[in-house]
This record gives sequence, structure tokens and C-alpha cells, in this order.
Amino acid sequence: GAAAPPVFAVNQQRFELSAVDPSITLLHFLRHHTSFKSVKLGCGEGGCGACVVLLSKYDPVLDKVEDFTVSSCLTLLGSIHGCSITTSEGIGNCKDGFHSIHQRFAGFHASQCGFCTPGMCVSLFSTLIKAEKTNRPEPSPGFSKLTVSEAEKAISGNLCRCTGYRPIADACKSFASDVDMEDLGLNAFWKKGCGEEEKSSKLPPYDPNNGPCLFPEFLKK
Ligand code: FES
Ligand code: FES
Repeated sequence: GAAAPPVFAVNQQRFELSAVDPSITLLHFLRHHTSFKSVKLGCGEGGCGACVVLLSKYDPVLDKVEDFTVSSCLTLLGSIHGCSITTSEGIGNCKDGFHSIHQRFAGFHASQCGFCTPGMCVSLFSTLIKAEKTNRPEPSPGFSKLTVSEAEKAISGNLCRCTGYRPIADACKSFASDVDMEDLGLNAFWKKGCGEEEKSSKLPPYDPNNGPCLFPEFLKK
């Protein structure tokens, strides 16, 4: 039968639909009915990551929010009742300020045509949130609890036809607490010959406590 019309949030904005075509995907909705057009239609079958968004669900019993990435091309609009969706615009934008993920992607030349970039950023963001929830020791200021190997895996479901992946992996690895700065390639933050410490001080800092609020109160009912 038809699913009940969903109430959900996209980047903190509330959406309440009176009716929904059961065949409409979240990707189609975002691109055609909202201003959040960073999500892209690549393959349309879950294989390329261009349409990846973060989906957050609230468990009222545990009073806990769970976040995971989904391919919005495979997610039916009728299935996201009560969910909070975050796209690349919700992580940071030109109005509220870009996230250090965006700034580092730009600085490491990790975006060429840009088609894959929003999905990559959301995938990395999700991995960063997961790492922050672990009880690993606090990293140095500006870094995250992410490890280099997790940083490399973060984008394993995202395809890029332009960059050859090295700059993207560098942008991701730059967040890892165990990164060797010597391993990071050409970028706009420092010049060759710069010391390890100077390099870290030049990266746009990451602050896990200063991220976007992912789950709006109005959905916690
Ligand atoms: Fe390729 Fe959704 S468009 S995974
Ligand atoms: Fe063009 Fe990745 S930058 S597809």
C-alpha cells in the first residue's frame, strides 16, 4: 500500500509533504524540489557515490541519533519519515562558512569538474563523525580521531573520473591523527621544505565540537 506522507528535514529545513509519488527517489526530490543541488545523478544504481547523503535517525528509547550514508538515488522519498538528511550544503556553505572538509578538498586540488565532490565530502564527514564517537585519545588540535587507513576507506564507494584519487586521498588523510605530513602531496597550504609542525598549523583546522547540528529538535517527537 501507499506509505504515509513523510515529514523530514534536509539541512535543518523542515519538509512536510501532503502526498508522495511512491516511485520518487530522495535524489530526484532534492534536485527538483529543493535548492540543495549538490547531490548528483551519476549511475542511478548505487554504484558511484555522486548522490551520497547522510541520513540521521533518532531513537527515542535510547535518546540517541544514528547517522549513516545512503545513496539518495536508491532511497525512496516515502521511506524517510522522521529522518534528517544532510547534504554537502548542510556541512558548510558560502553563507555560513565552509567546513574544513571543503577547504581541504579545495586546497589539495581534490576537486576538478566537481561532479563527485559533494558525495566525497559527505562520505568523509560521516567517517569523521563515527571516529569522533570512539573513545580513542584526543588528537592534537585541528586533527580528528580518524586513522589514515579509515580516511582512505572513507571514499572507497565514491568514484571520480578526473583526479586519479591521490589528491582526494590526501585531503581525507590530512584529518587523520596518525598522518605523516610528508606523505601529503602538492597543495595550496604550504610550500616544499616546510617543517611538519608548520604544515599542520597551515591546514584549515577541524573542530568536531563546532560542526553542524545534524538532528533538529522538531523531529524528536
Ligand atoms: Fe550513483 Fe546514486 S547516482 S550511487
Ligand atoms: Fe570530476 Fe571527480 S572531480 S569526477
